[in-house]
Amino acid sequence: MEVTIENQRKIIEIIRSCGAEVRSVQNVESQDGAIAVKPGAANFVTSFDVKVQNTLISRLAALYPQARFFAEEKDNDGSCFKDAYCFVIDPIDGTTNFIHDMKHSAISVALYYDAKPLFGAVYDPYMDEMFHASLGGGAFLNGSPIRVSGRSLDTALMLFGTSPYNRDQYGRETFDRVYNVFMKCADVRRSGSAALDVCYVAGGRVDAYFEDILSPWDFAAGLLILTEAGGMITDYTGDLPKTGEKTSVLCSNKLLHSEMLQLLNK
Ligand code: IPD
Ligand code: CA
Ligand code: CA
Repeated sequence: MEVTIENQRKIIEIIRSCGAEVRSVQNVESQDGAIAVKPGAANFVTSFDVKVQNTLISRLAALYPQARFFAEEKDNDGSCFKDAYCFVIDPIDGTTNFIHDMKHSAISVALYYDAKPLFGAVYDPYMDEMFHASLGGGAFLNGSPIRVSGRSLDTALMLFGTSPYNRDQYGRETFDRVYNVFMKCADVRRSGSAALDVCYVAGGRVDAYFEDILSPWDFAAGLLILTEAGGMITDYTGDLPKTGEKTSVLCSNKLLHSEMLQLLNK
């Protein structure tokens, strides 16, 4: 199974046009009925998340009529991945940033076949940065090849996520882990978009990223972009994340992976 260059180009074009719509939106909070609450702490969805998701699904379905969809703002079924093409979609990753006009959010789309990632793209419409990768084909930023960094722990810049919607369960442990990592590296950052965090490791801007609990759509595309760029992704036990399941995630430039696992599990 492979995604032809022509189909890669078409998927990227669909994502770009949705990105233009995301970029054009400002001040969501002032728009009547635009924000709804989801289960969990400070977990919001906007009408734009739903609109972008619907546009992506209808346009991608026209390209791959046989595909199934595993997407954040709909009901999903793990069987989506079995013996079929499955698009894994986060229509707006970084919804809290989006609501606050922080201009650091992304559209994330991955195409799997039978639980194997074939293609992934993550688009930051504000920076006009399109990260993409195909299985065995390498990873790219706006068409140029990208590669993870070669930094060691003492000079490393680390990203972390706060698992905000599950803070009752993970908040304390998250900040204990951040403290342990912070004391050994150059500095830490918190961006608000997991999909971009993974891509920033892939592009060598930062050297590792970790978060206690993510959903499949947060990192499905980033996973392939990172591994094609020479990086590594596991859960906190060092195992590969299970396709279609919620999981802890550690992404790194590979060199740092075992030291980071030790620090996260200290
Ligand atoms: C969230 C963002 C955030 C991460 C959360 C994700 P959403 O995705 O990626 O950075 O910390 O774990 O759920 O809800 O904005 O799509
Ligand atoms: Ca997300
Ligand atoms: Ca989202």
